[in-house]
Amino acid sequence: VVIIMPGREAEAGRLAEGLRRRLPSTAVGVWPEYGAADEVTAVVSWRHPPGVLEGFPALRMVASFGAGAEHLLEDAAVPAGVAVVRTVADGLARDLAEYVVAAVTRHRRRLREHERDQRRRRWRPRTYPARWTDLVLGMGRMGVVSARALAALGHEVLGWRRSVAAPVSGVNCLAGMPALADALPDADAVVCLLPLTPATGDLIDESFLARMKPGSLLVNVARGRHVVEDDLLDALDRGRPKHAVLDVVRTEPLPPEHPFWDHPGVTLTPHVAALTDPEAAADRIADNLRRLDAGEPLLDEVDRELGY
Ligand code: GLV
Repeated sequence: VVIIMPGREAEAGRLAEGLRRRLPSTAVGVWPEYGAADEVTAVVSWRHPPGVLEGFPALRMVASFGAGAEHLLEDAAVPAGVAVVRTVADGLARDLAEYVVAAVTRHRRRLREHERDQRRRRWRPRTYPARWTDLVLGMGRMGVVSARALAALGHEVLGWRRSVAAPVSGVNCLAGMPALADALPDADAVVCLLPLTPATGDLIDESFLARMKPGSLLVNVARGRHVVEDDLLDALDRGRPKHAVLDVVRTEPLPPEHPFWDHPGVTLTPHVAALTDPEAAADRIADNLRRLDAGEPLLDEVDRELGY
C-alpha cells in the first residue's frame, strides 16, 4: 500500500502507522518514499498529483482518504479494472451534521446580527421565524445524518436526491429535478451534501438561486464545483439567498483576490466541516485491504456510472 496525500504528511504518517498496526504483514509506504512500484496493489489518495498512479502497474484498488472520490474518478490513470472506494470514517457524518446545525441555527437565530449589535453596545431583541424549513440536497450517508439532526430541532426537513427517494423518518423525501424546483421557494435554508458528479456539478446556478426564498441561507459542505460562484455573488446582491456558508470553493485554497473573502454575505471556512480521522480511516481501509486480498466485496465501492 502506498499513501499519497501531498500537503498532509502528518495525517499520512498516522494513517500509515494505523495500517501497519492492523495489518503487520502488509508493506505500507508514504509517497514519495516506498519500495518496488510494481508490487503496489493499493493506493490511498487525497488529491494525488496527476499522473502519479500510472507508475503502479499492479494496482487493484484506490481508496480516497475521505467521503468524496471524484478526484479519483477524474484521473484517467485509474483504469476501469481498478476498484475505487470512498472512506467514510466513523464520526464523519456526525461532524458534518454538527457544522450544518451550527450554520443553520446561526442564521435562523440571527446570531450574526446579535454579534454586530454587541460590538455596537446595542441591546436589541430580534425576532426569529416560528416555522422553519430546511432543504437537504443529497440523501446519502452524509445527508441523512444532517437531515435527522435538523429534524430533531423541530425544523421541517425536506430531503432531496436526484433519483428515487428512500424513506427517512422525520424527513419529507423528494426526488427528481421538478421536485427540487418546487421545493426551493419553500426552504429557509438549503444545505448541499451531494456527491460531485457530472450530473450535480454547477447545479447551484443562476436558475437554481433565483428560486431560493428571499432572506434564506445556502450552506455548501459538499464540493465547490456544485456552485457557479459568479451566479452566487449576483444572487447574494439580490438577497436570495441572503447569506452563504461555504466550507468548499471551486479553487482551494481560495485565491487571495477572490470576492468571497470580504463579502458580507459569505461565511467561509477552509474545508474543515468534517475531517477524516486517520485512526478511524485506518479501520475502514484495513478492512478493505483484507477484503481485497480475500476477494470479498469491498466497502463503499464507488459505482463509476453513478460517480459515487
Ligand atoms: C471531504 O471533503 C471528504 O470527501 O471526506
